[in-house]
Amino acid sequence: MRNSGENLQLTVNNLTFSYNDAGPSDAPTIIFIHGFPFNKSMWAGQVDALKDRYRLIAYDVRGHGDSDAGQEDFAIELFVNDLLSLMDALKLDRVILCGLSMGGYIALNAVLHYPKRFGALILSDTQCTADTAEAKEKRMKAIESIRENGVEKYAEESVKNLFAPESFATKEKEIAAIKSMILKTPEQVLSKTLLALSKRKETCSNLYKIKIPTLILVGEADKITPPAAARVMHEKIQHSVLSTIAHAGHLSNLEHPTEFNDQLQAFLHRCTEKSFSFQKPVWMDR
Ligand code: MLT
Repeated sequence: MRNSGENLQLTVNNLTFSYNDAGPSDAPTIIFIHGFPFNKSMWAGQVDALKDRYRLIAYDVRGHGDSDAGQEDFAIELFVNDLLSLMDALKLDRVILCGLSMGGYIALNAVLHYPKRFGALILSDTQCTADTAEAKEKRMKAIESIRENGVEKYAEESVKNLFAPESFATKEKEIAAIKSMILKTPEQVLSKTLLALSKRKETCSNLYKIKIPTLILVGEADKITPPAAARVMHEKIQHSVLSTIAHAGHLSNLEHPTEFNDQLQAFLHRCTEKSFSFQKPVWMDR
């Protein structure tokens, strides 16, 4: 029996995960993975727009939102294992995966390691490269600063880079929501995730293996994973479409939700119009 609603709980890998599950049971299922250090609530605008036609699951990555953190060190591979365990527990054989930034790192690794479990992929404001030495050093400095100055200062500094300049005048509510998601994330989770992100492996050299329809979205003013990084993935993923979202920085789904949702809906429509099984998406016929 499927449960639907918000803040549902599921225990896998000895941890309780929190997730939202909306939409018809017999519709194609999309799983949303949030960025760092946010939570499942960042997908509310997409769930609202798509819930009549798709089953939509947004979960909190371990340690984030309302999911348990556990004692282990974090790693992208561990997050992928959680995702697959959640899919197994929910009896989801094959889904469409949508990840933003860190969610995209998890999605790319999941699709590359378990290709049969995914029918289509949406990569938003993410990249396939590993951290440079400079980026790693910045993460270590962030860990130090969180320890010394607390999460409030980290949240203040992070927000400056997450949004497009114009969003500071127009997206007050979204900025406040993102700030409170960061503040809700425990200090230890911030540090453990920063370390995991700094150790993540590149996936660029394996992108040619991705054979499923892929939509790549990027905010035109994304400073963290810029349009150039999206273009690299687009060139390497055979069945990919790239769309740049105007008036948006790193959080394109929140900064320009109408454009983001239009692109998402058009892509999903093309992928699913012939059948709900994704065995042979229409996309592949082009
Ligand atoms: C995110 O939004 O998930 C982070 O910016 C990813 C990162 O720092 O690499």
